Amino acid sequence: MSHRIGVIAGDGIGAEVIPEALKVIAAAGVSLDTVDYDLGAHRYVVDGVVLTDEIVDEWRGLDALLLGAVGGPEVPPGVIERGLLLKMRFDLDLYVNQRPFVYTPADGEGHDFVVIRENTEGTYAGEGGFLRKGTPHEIATQGSVNTRFGVERCVRYAFELASSRPAKHLTLVHKTNVLTFAGDLWQRTFDAVAAEFPDVRTDYQHVDAACIHFVANPAQYDVIVTDNLFGDILTDLGGVVSGGIGLASSGNLNPDRTGPSMFEPVHGSAPDIAGQNKANPLAAILSAAMMLDFLGEGDAADRVRAACAEVSSRTGSTTELGDAVAALVTA
Ligand code: IPM
Ligand code: MN
Repeated sequence: MSHRIGVIAGDGIGAEVIPEALKVIAAAGVSLDTVDYDLGAHRYVVDGVVLTDEIVDEWRGLDALLLGAVGGPEVPPGVIERGLLLKMRFDLDLYVNQRPFVYTPADGEGHDFVVIRENTEGTYAGEGGFLRKGTPHEIATQGSVNTRFGVERCVRYAFELASSRPAKHLTLVHKTNVLTFAGDLWQRTFDAVAAEFPDVRTDYQHVDAACIHFVANPAQYDVIVTDNLFGDILTDLGGVVSGGIGLASSGNLNPDRTGPSMFEPVHGSAPDIAGQNKANPLAAILSAAMMLDFLGEGDAADRVRAACAEVSSRTGSTTELGDAVAALVTA
């Protein structure tokens, strides 16, 4: 069966890494029926289109979306981020952002852990505004939206994931000592859902302490669940401690499958190295592996991940590394 996939290669190195991901999927023997969407900063400059409701409606009929990177210095901050990436997350209800990491100590075995980031609420909901903008008495507010429904569905997903893994350990990361309203809602929701998962060992860390632990002892983690902004920051740190952002993959998931999920490398469009065939394609390839998992192609996904692990210690151009992974997957 062929899966129907919308492909948004996007800007900068996105256009270079996505062909490598598609090459590897084909090598793994999975057949995709792809539709390309020309979106991103470059498109916005041409005709002002960021993302229309019509395109989103078209996507609802697809099995998944694969995205390279969007954004660039030619567009003011926020236009593409909010208009494209966040619109996808909100309109398609991609309420879980799953970001896996493999941490390999200098003298030991690789250890994998995964961050589950709430993806549709918090400060990203866009609540706030200006008063007396541009005057000396200007006020800017930026609220954080936390609904019981939104927190609970994300936390439940994290418990289900933790329960399915050997270590069965889930850490809640927040800032309950200062964000006493949102933090309280998160903690109470976490505790209530925990009662449904007696097999899962639970922990709590404040986000600032978690930053220390991410660097000093990432091997203590199995699954982490956290709010949208904390998850944004922590997953960049997670990338750095586990082989670099060139390996960091992600899935923006709609676990209820009421629409397609979207898979993307965590790195951005990196305009400084774009067009030079030197971007690391592994993050995009690993994101494609997550997509394969989600499409029920777990066997192919495992083979792709094993090939990426082997290639991750090599150096080479974007296409060379993509070819190397493809060759290993085929073999
Ligand atoms: C990410 C990115 C996005 C985010 C930006 C580009 C809107 O940093 O996916 O982590 O903040 O979520
Ligand atoms: Mn980020």
